[in-house]
Amino acid sequence: MICTQRSIDKGVSVDKPKRHAIISGDMKKSILSMLKKKYKDFKWEDKNSSKDAAVFKLKGADRNLYVKITNARCIQNQFQMLHRMQDMLPVPQVVEYKICGDFGFVVMSEIKGTRFKEYLSEITPSAAVEIYAKAYNIMKKSGITHGDFCPLNIIIGENGDIAGFVDFDKSKGEKTTKDLEEAIFIITKHFGNEYVKYFLKMTGESLIGA
Ligand SMILES: Nc1ncnc2c1ncn2[C@@H]1O[C@H](COP(=O)(O)OP(=O)(O)OP(=O)(O)O)[C@@H](O)[C@H]1O
Ligand SMILES: [Mg+2]
Repeated sequence: MICTQRSIDKGVSVDKPKRHAIISGDMKKSILSMLKKKYKDFKWEDKNSSKDAAVFKLKGADRNLYVKITNARCIQNQFQMLHRMQDMLPVPQVVEYKICGDFGFVVMSEIKGTRFKEYLSEITPSAAVEIYAKAYNIMKKSGITHGDFCPLNIIIGENGDIAGFVDFDKSKGEKTTKDLEEAIFIITKHFGNEYVKYFLKMTGESLIGA
């Protein structure tokens, strides 16, 4: 396996991958076996092996890590944004990052907590929309677009506050309307229009195109 370490400062460009690139069996196996040797003292748990990405939680004696393997462009994007947002947003710290041909991986620290998706079922719609609005306002203040601003990628801490954000594969360095569109779509689908109004009031946004 030929791997190249890339630094954000070098501004190395990566060819655009095909949409929905599937991790080839051989490459995935090769990256995985290398990482499994390196992180052999951790207990590996498969969190989500979709056709686009493979995500593992690594349980260690004194800390847990996460590994994500996916196409090079997504890994490059994720790494750059995690690096850039380190002191501005609660995001995982990058432990290791490599591009291996068309693919790559990032090893990162864990954001401890429960996914907002699961937490939703424990609280009222009002409380859920308040948390979503709070998450939106934090993200907006950072000046970036998360790019996949759904409850799966927002982590809630033990105190019920926002512990952090994960999954910056599709993020952008400037603010667009994508995160707002996604939040409105999800709130409409799950809670209805009245809650969209509540969300807009708390975020000071207005309906896109209105
Ligand atoms: N650093 C982290 N700390 C805590 N949880 C994490 C971390 N990274 C990933 N996770 C968990 O693993 C899940 C899957 O990770 P991620 O969202 O990055 O991949 P994905 O959604 O499969 O990627 P894609 O959006 O490309 O399909 C997240 O929803 C989250 O629960
Ligand atoms: Mg995700």
